[in-house]
Amino acid sequence: MCGITAYRGPTAAASRARNALERLEYRGYDSAGIAARRPDGSTMHARTLSGVAALAVVVGEEPADATTAAIGHTRWATHGEVSEANAHPLEDCGGRLYVVHNGIIDNADALRARLVGAGHRFATGVDSEVIVHLVEQAQRPGVGLGDALADAVTHLSGSWAVVVLDARSGALAATAHGSPLICAEAGGGTYFASDVGAIAPEVDEFRVLEDDDVVEVDAAGPRWHRSGGSCRPRGLWPVPRTALLASTGRHRDHMGNEIDEQPLIARRVLEALSPGIADGRLWRGLGLPSLDGIDRVAVLGCGTSLHAGRAVAGVFGRLGGMPTRTLVASEVAHEVWEPRTLVIAISQSGETADVLRALDSLPPRHGTVLALTNNTSSTLARRSDAVIDCLAGPEVGVAATKTFVAQVLTGVCVALSALAAADRGDSACVDADLRALAATPDALAAALDTWRGPCAQLAADHARASGFLFLGRGAGLVYAAEGALKLKELSYRWAEAHPAGELKHGPLALVTTGTPVFVVDNGDPRLDVDIAEVTARGGRVIRIGERVLNVGGVALHLPRTGPSWGPLESVIPLQMFARELALRLHRDVDKPRNLAKSVTVS
Ligand code: F6R
Repeated sequence: MCGITAYRGPTAAASRARNALERLEYRGYDSAGIAARRPDGSTMHARTLSGVAALAVVVGEEPADATTAAIGHTRWATHGEVSEANAHPLEDCGGRLYVVHNGIIDNADALRARLVGAGHRFATGVDSEVIVHLVEQAQRPGVGLGDALADAVTHLSGSWAVVVLDARSGALAATAHGSPLICAEAGGGTYFASDVGAIAPEVDEFRVLEDDDVVEVDAAGPRWHRSGGSCRPRGLWPVPRTALLASTGRHRDHMGNEIDEQPLIARRVLEALSPGIADGRLWRGLGLPSLDGIDRVAVLGCGTSLHAGRAVAGVFGRLGGMPTRTLVASEVAHEVWEPRTLVIAISQSGETADVLRALDSLPPRHGTVLALTNNTSSTLARRSDAVIDCLAGPEVGVAATKTFVAQVLTGVCVALSALAAADRGDSACVDADLRALAATPDALAAALDTWRGPCAQLAADHARASGFLFLGRGAGLVYAAEGALKLKELSYRWAEAHPAGELKHGPLALVTTGTPVFVVDNGDPRLDVDIAEVTARGGRVIRIGERVLNVGGVALHLPRTGPSWGPLESVIPLQMFARELALRLHRDVDKPRNLAKSVTVS
């Protein structure tokens, strides 16, 4: 989604802002732009539909120290078409102020009408443009840029992270409300960014703007305001070590490398968390109530994170015997919350607007929200009672892969530790789950080895298939759902996931000769009947995770019971197949169309 970068300091402001934008590219965008002040008071203003790299041409023509203040933006269109004119930074009437904005201004139409009435000339249909005209209106002699911005945002409703550049003075001012923005100082300069990854190589620590904080930066350095008065700068956060651990590997796309990295991530998570499971230390360290004081668990998230949440809920439900619900975050608004509910909010970015809005619907002082996120300084982390880091490191591919595995495993460790702390769960089943957990990195590695060749072949065989079915039962179902989601995101082919038992209640009508049907085998013997129903109608079954014994040339499918979170390793061939098919169809697997890495609008 949209990304913001900004810099004011002694050297090369435009290059710094542009380089930081490059680190945000993976989040998905359709246009990019930059505005910078040259020392002679003139302005560099460039926008493009051709990617951040195209801005290098403009920025690269400037001598290294030519610009001292710059703002940059990657735009993911919500209001107004994708065009160079609609790309940020957006300009005021006088060509003095430039603004970059993430979020949505709900009352933009009314404000635009009022500003036009007052004589302002608009160049775009973009909601964000009202902000730069409001700042222009508020800026009078004696009113600093920070105060003008603070005044401007009092007229807004919606969500925003905004940085304004005054190209005449070289001052910057920034503010946020319901959309992330951070500020950091290094080497005599001040940075702003919507995501720590943008500036992680440049700074060691950063501060997070709370709602309605205003930070103004001029020759005297950064000053923090709040409601007209000054305020102390917010506390410092260290740049997370994992922010610099991007995946590398033999693939040209990030997604391929991130899939391959999953056994390593699993080892990292288990090394960090599994020592605290058996004695309940991991759970107690979070400072949440014991499960003796909790009656039920509600897990909420969106997309892949929701699927990870369903797997984690399986541990509390199947193993712990606790009532669990999994909630689609965007549908939570009218949920009736029961007391003594542990809420687990899962989001790799920690900035997903639907998840944050879902937390708004909780009763005040609910007190038991655990965030499971890959970004421990995110808004979700700061708004929760306890946080657990997924430890996946930066995930560049828009489609979640390694963060899914990391979320499932961190959630499973926490759930097992919570059960141990409250002495819940059948001890034989707990032991079996602990053994399965320890074996997960090897199981993921084996799945990578086993399926690499077959997935490429399957993709070749099914390149013309118009649609795919994914079936599962019990704990296998979430992996079928995740496989279908990956396939549609990457290949743009229709893919439906269903509980296998539902086949005969409707989806079976889709099956005809050659229809590809993936079945996630969690060892449930009833899957044999489901598969027979598909093959009898000519469907082509691709069974993932089966255990087969060959007796005198006859294949016997072995029943087995898997861990309470299901056959996690089955996601590997599903991710690999989705990627292989997408590559075969010449899709951009790292940046699927219409999608963004961090969905900050609801
Ligand atoms: C799928 C995918 C999305 C995200 C969803 C939630 O590959 O990436 O479905 O899982 O947008 O995002 P987070 O986890 O950031 O809350």
